[in-house]
Amino acid sequence: MVSEIEHAAELIGHAQYMIALTGAGISRESNVPTFRGEDGLWRRYDPMELATPEAFFRDPDLVWEWYAWRQGLIARCRPNPAHLVLADWERRGLLRYVVTQNVDGLHMRAGSRNVLEVHGNIWRVRCVSCEYRSTLDEPVGSTPRCPVCGALLRPDVVWFGESLDMDVMARVYRELEKSDLCLVIGTSGVVQPAASFPLVAKQHGGRLIEINVEKTPLTHVMDVHIEEQAGKALPAIDAVLSGS
Ligand code: OAD
Repeated sequence: MVSEIEHAAELIGHAQYMIALTGAGISRESNVPTFRGEDGLWRRYDPMELATPEAFFRDPDLVWEWYAWRQGLIARCRPNPAHLVLADWERRGLLRYVVTQNVDGLHMRAGSRNVLEVHGNIWRVRCVSCEYRSTLDEPVGSTPRCPVCGALLRPDVVWFGESLDMDVMARVYRELEKSDLCLVIGTSGVVQPAASFPLVAKQHGGRLIEINVEKTPLTHVMDVHIEEQAGKALPAIDAVLSGS
């Protein structure tokens, strides 16, 4: 473990353009549930009943009830040391971008500014009919309606069967191509296209460091694999970088 931490710190110290790809695991220590694994959301809930456009139009009240529950849960969570180290590295010019699959907004709450949210954000809503979009301050009380046209508002997140935002994706691929070092933190690496982002970075000559509590389908392509909680591994790397 120690040598992996040191190896990671060495790669980070020499990187010219580092980015981070994050998944639900980085927010686990903030008490946001992950999707897969023992206590993952998809163990208890059926994504086809809650996270598809068909499910939403079949029963918008049920889907909103679930999102309101998740919003309430996330509202009570705080960024953990992993989010904070990434935000600090951005301020210090070590990290250029965070590309996240998370919808919880915790990277921004930690102070990261250059964040690309590929699956949207649970605090944003958009109208299913017109161009209306808005950001929420608190969990929704009941199924919200568009103040402009009266149609349903939906969470501005990407559901199964939907495509990702083209502009965000173009920016993600630009970052992947530019990066010479990519931190892959807390993702199971099974949901496409995000699961292939590390491979794109590697094809463009980037080195890869994975931080995860277990091995993933991506582990074999990594230059360094740190099997540890993100909230412990990132501060440990930071301590080596700072020489303390
Ligand atoms: P998953 O829940 O699939 O995977 C979480 C990963 O985090 C697993 O590999 C865990 O081993 C790891 N992990 C757990 N705790 C950790 C910790 N403290 N430190 C580091 N790693 C830890 O989450 P994602 O890969 O983000 O999509 O899931 C991808 C997408 O699947 C989500 O964005 C969501 C879901 O369906 C949509 O909703 C569109």
